[in-house]
Amino acid sequence: MSLMAGVGRQGEKWHELRTLLTPELMSKRTMDQFLPELHHVADDFVSQLRAERNAHGVVTAVDDIANRLGLESICELVLGRRLGFFNKDVGALASRLGSVIKEHFLASRDTYFGLPFWKLFPTRAYKQMVKSEEEYYEIISELVEAALREERNTCPVDGIQSVFASVLRIPDLDVREKKAAIIDFIAAGIQGTCNSLVFLLYLMAKHPDAQQRLYHELQGLGEVTADSLRGAAYLRACVHESYRLLPAAIAIARILEADMELSGHLLPAGTVVLCHTWLAGLEERNFPAAAQFRPERWLSADGRFHAAQTIPVVPFGYGKRMCPGKGFVDQEMRLLLAKLVQEFHIGFDGELGLQFEFFLSPVGPVSFTFTDRC
Ligand code: HEM
Repeated sequence: MSLMAGVGRQGEKWHELRTLLTPELMSKRTMDQFLPELHHVADDFVSQLRAERNAHGVVTAVDDIANRLGLESICELVLGRRLGFFNKDVGALASRLGSVIKEHFLASRDTYFGLPFWKLFPTRAYKQMVKSEEEYYEIISELVEAALREERNTCPVDGIQSVFASVLRIPDLDVREKKAAIIDFIAAGIQGTCNSLVFLLYLMAKHPDAQQRLYHELQGLGEVTADSLRGAAYLRACVHESYRLLPAAIAIARILEADMELSGHLLPAGTVVLCHTWLAGLEERNFPAAAQFRPERWLSADGRFHAAQTIPVVPFGYGKRMCPGKGFVDQEMRLLLAKLVQEFHIGFDGELGLQFEFFLSPVGPVSFTFTDRC
């Protein structure tokens, strides 16, 4: 979720920046071209799980590995290069990035959702928020500078190059705005991607029947391509149902540009309105058997995936401001789930603890069992 500069603005300036900065990130062509690279990252993720399994197939701190996956895949998408977050000798800069972004979200939660003393004087949380924001801006700036230096020769895939290069090519836009946008893209996606993956694996682990049905679908899939992923209805339904039950972003925020009447209340322009999309997804009147994980609810009678419902599930927001990383995350979740279910039975003991860290997050360390399919 964008909390920072760039597209985090309001009104006309936001619209201008959004129109200039996000088309390449959102294009189907970029997603299709990035898929082979995503395969490599997903394979490394699977290898990492294998390497960290104990004799009983248990991997502790899957949340940490998922965090590294988020960093690796998003940095590659945006900067066009692998930064090696799965390697033991990952550079100091890169290894600090994951923790500093997490610190920033925690400090933002304590600032914005606590009593607003920070408006009167700089509270501890506020100071931490500013400090961590400065730090990750510096880290990503350095990564961006390094990418800029190498930009001409080393981007391996056209599609990847174009996300990064397309922002740099925009005429009449201050270089600081361009840099802020790239920083925004990187910081916005990491935590959400990591948490969404842990939630998806947890729900699949708790529903072995769904895993089995998915396994059957995947056996008939053949080669995993962008099209075959789109055509795998049950796979898509599993991912979508996990967004409904455990969305990383639980609400959408808007600042009203004009006065508005909502449920009989007159809200003046400038009011911050929070739409609690998670609660809407859990309401029985919106979804029968709402507490249950039922991917089938997203399949039509002829077995096709259909996300359209009277009450939509909107984990990436809605309308003009919708998350520009949605296509990328959807593709990544489907690919990872497909690879993992093809290779393993996924298991989980007990219940997953949840906490609010600006994003809905699992209480770590989170352990899963990955048992090889024979
Ligand atoms: C599972 C992962 C993610 C989740 C759950 C998520 C969720 C969201 C949500 C709910 C919004 C607000 C949308 C609205 O107000 O209607 C948002 C905005 C945004 N997201 Fe994501 N996002 C994720 C990943 C990403 C990724 C990977 C990127 C970039 C590569 C990204 C970039 C952004 C940006 C730049 C905005 C601000 C858009 C604007 O204000 O115009 N997000 N995201």
